[in-house]
Amino acid sequence: MESPLFIPIIPATQLPIALFLIYITSKAIYRLYFSPLSSIPGPKLAALTYWYEFYYDGYKGGKYTFKVKEFHEKYGPIVRINPHHVHINDIDFYDTIYAPGGTKHPRNKIRWLAMDLDSMFDTYDAALHRKRRAAVASPFSKQAIRALEPAIFEIIYDSISRLKGLAGTDTIVNVQAFWSTLTQEVIGQYCFGASRMSDLRGGNDEAQYMQPDHVAPNLHAWGRMFPSLFDFITKIPMSVFAVFDKRFLGADAFEKEIGAQIRKVLKADEPHIGIKNVFHEMRDSKHLPPEDKRFNYYQGEAASFVAAGTDTTASALTTLTYFLLANPSILRKLREELRTVMPNSVTELPPTSTLENLPYLTGVIQEGIRLSFSVPGRLPRTAPNEELVYKGYKLPPGTVISQSSYLHHADERVFPEPFEFKPERWVNDADFSVRRNFLAFSRGARSCIGINLAYAELYPVVAAVFSRFELKLYETSARDVEFASDRFISHRPEGSQGVRVQVVSAAE
Ligand code: HEM
Repeated sequence: MESPLFIPIIPATQLPIALFLIYITSKAIYRLYFSPLSSIPGPKLAALTYWYEFYYDGYKGGKYTFKVKEFHEKYGPIVRINPHHVHINDIDFYDTIYAPGGTKHPRNKIRWLAMDLDSMFDTYDAALHRKRRAAVASPFSKQAIRALEPAIFEIIYDSISRLKGLAGTDTIVNVQAFWSTLTQEVIGQYCFGASRMSDLRGGNDEAQYMQPDHVAPNLHAWGRMFPSLFDFITKIPMSVFAVFDKRFLGADAFEKEIGAQIRKVLKADEPHIGIKNVFHEMRDSKHLPPEDKRFNYYQGEAASFVAAGTDTTASALTTLTYFLLANPSILRKLREELRTVMPNSVTELPPTSTLENLPYLTGVIQEGIRLSFSVPGRLPRTAPNEELVYKGYKLPPGTVISQSSYLHHADERVFPEPFEFKPERWVNDADFSVRRNFLAFSRGARSCIGINLAYAELYPVVAAVFSRFELKLYETSARDVEFASDRFISHRPEGSQGVRVQVVSAAE
């Protein structure tokens, strides 16, 4: 006889639904009241479900960073922004998260981007990352980048003659596309020696300067929500997508060309342009684990260098181009300073080390980087082996913790009138507070390895272009440099055509 205890109170057909409801209710109760993060301030809905973050980042398109700023204004410097992620807005705690020093305090990354490349950038484990980074530390050093100077200058002179060719014409130049061509050529030179990435893009056809900025969905937010789907999609070769959409043809050609370049470089014995090529370095490195010395890893590394080093530097250049042209008095001051080292504007560029000593030029470049908000948002880290404590709040090992450079770079206590372009703030930074709060390249073991390369491009480009050319903004306003969407890198408002200029004249 069946025991009364087994009398089904729920019809069998509805049992799965009932179990599901019990599961999500207990999960919700746990997240809100029993999770080790439950005492951390923040909106209950964000603590309850990942869909809250996804609504702002995936559905509304990269808007959660702005929401997080509001949370801090309401709840204070520590906020729980999703069930397992704590955001802190405090410069004094930045290094505890990102640069604790030594190997005793490892900081792991979590998967954050849609694509999960086989690369140093996407290495989550601190110990493996250390080995991979050591393998390329030398070619990214200041000394190695200095050796690249003649090659960088050659690319800059090429771009200048292209601009010169447009002087006095009606051609409208999309500045971001123009600078991206230059920065991509530098990365091509850096990674592969003599080859030119622009060859992949069908030469230096004027049409490419006209491309409007793309307004794409925030793939990273979708990737975070549906990682398996993205893993599946990213395994499909670009050539398959290209069958359905011709726009993928460029990416397909790019992928193939990167592969061909790596094979070619690895076969060649001669180092290029005075430094050992980055792929020779990896191949010969004693730091790189033997399992990494394979084509796929080199290819992932190359793709990540191109992705990380192209649009970031180009968008700093684009931002400062806009602000210099919109503020003639700043441009005048810059030119006066440039004349001290380039008395005749058409003379050859002085060494980058000379340019780096110019305080106003430095202020212009720093403001360009700051206001481009290149990598504006959360850079999540975990401390796998230690509990971190912030203002009495305990963050157990493995808690996802982040800060966002946007919140620091727009902090009016450090940067009064934060959205104004003021090179002087860098010149008058007597107490170093401006420099201390500058986080564009992050800090610590995972900070930008390309920082020396970025400055080695920025200084001579700004000096060369703004000493020689009269440029005029074309149908461009402050809105076209506004940070409107955080898709790991910042995007401009929808409908923006980007910063566009016409070349009025060029010094002979
Ligand atoms: C203004 C220009 C640039 C900015 C603002 C910038 C910013 C950053 C930031 C914030 C990170 C840390 C990302 C994270 O924690 O997930 C990073 C990492 C990185 N950047 Fe840059 N970057 C710039 C230029 C470059 C250039 C020119 C390269 C050249 C290849 C480059 C290559 C990389 C790489 C490979 C990493 C990963 C480093 C690692 O995981 O150890 N970046 N960058």
